[in-house]
Amino acid sequence: MNDTFLKACRGEKTDYTPAWIMRQAGRYLPEYQKIRSRIDFLTLCKTPEIAAEVTIQPVDILKVDAAILFSDILIPVEAIGMKIEFSESKGPIIYNPVRDEAAIYKLRDIRPEEDTPFVMETIKILRERLNVPLIGFSGAPFTLATYMIEGGSSRNFINTKKMMYQTPAFFSMFMNKITDTVISYLRAQIDEGVHAIQIFDSWAGILSPVDFSRFALSYVQRIVSAFKGKVPIIYFAFNASAMLNLVKQSGADIIGLDWKIEMTDAIEEIGNGIAVQGNLDPSVLFGAKDLIRKRIAGILSGARDAKGHIFNLGHGILPETPVESAIAAVESVHELSDRR
Ligand code: CP3
Repeated sequence: MNDTFLKACRGEKTDYTPAWIMRQAGRYLPEYQKIRSRIDFLTLCKTPEIAAEVTIQPVDILKVDAAILFSDILIPVEAIGMKIEFSESKGPIIYNPVRDEAAIYKLRDIRPEEDTPFVMETIKILRERLNVPLIGFSGAPFTLATYMIEGGSSRNFINTKKMMYQTPAFFSMFMNKITDTVISYLRAQIDEGVHAIQIFDSWAGILSPVDFSRFALSYVQRIVSAFKGKVPIIYFAFNASAMLNLVKQSGADIIGLDWKIEMTDAIEEIGNGIAVQGNLDPSVLFGAKDLIRKRIAGILSGARDAKGHIFNLGHGILPETPVESAIAAVESVHELSDRR
């Protein structure tokens, strides 16, 4: 197996900088579109043979150094009792949002083997077929809470913030429930054989540092301590580069970076004891190949002093991205970082 990604996670020397791309399996790939034209997104997530196939697509096409399980952060949310749908136009919709204490008591305990057997089966198939490490993942408790409270994506997250400020004890009970769910769900993925895990905190950036500390960070810390030393743990808090001093306190082995901070500044903040992942603006892939290459060169040289560096975009690849540009990006990372 190509273990360059895992070596970089551990901060060991590598021949070149490993790369993968958030949302690397998805709508920008015609091969994915073809499958999606005959199967809806949730059914795809729940059909192991096909979920495994789309997980492998970007490994073959882009030559990335890691695969990420094809699924969604809302899968375990559905498993504990939320009614979810993925709308083509509106994104995820949750029909029974959590707005009061009664709703939280209705949430079930997750039993991953029974509730999400398709996830376990997909991992099993991938373990046999992949020649690169497999990344398992979960949403972070705060990000999952926003979807569960708002009922979908949101502009101002008013319901979430009302709950935080008006009924903090209730919010904390809710967050603990989600944290327990995430820990059980990730443990099952690790037991099934994923090589690393990523915790996606897509909405951490709507919080002030003091609120991030109080309402989000400690739950991530609890998840990280549950798995520290078992597999590498990546924590990606989007739009949180102004509070990396707090993000690094998560205890994660690798900190994911968005593109709103210079790599050198991020490393100065994080120190050289933790590896980093990132951080090309996904829209740069709409530029010419030489621009892409130049920006990648900047990131690679900026990451020179990191404990380890895994190249990625600063957020998910956009659906309109030319596949050729994504291929060129991965190729540039491999070429420009070749130290042999
Ligand atoms: O390739 C991969 O990265 C693995 C699969 C993956 C998906 N979602 C597939 C997906 C992963 C890791 C996720 C994580 C996820 N899901 C996040 C965290 C990362 C981030 O983007 O911040 C979030 C917030 C979600 C929730 C979600 N799922 C939204 C908001 C949407 C709609 C917007 C969109 O991009 O379509 C989804 C749908 C979704 N998840 C798709 C895919 C491939 C598109 C479904 C389709 O139409 O085919």
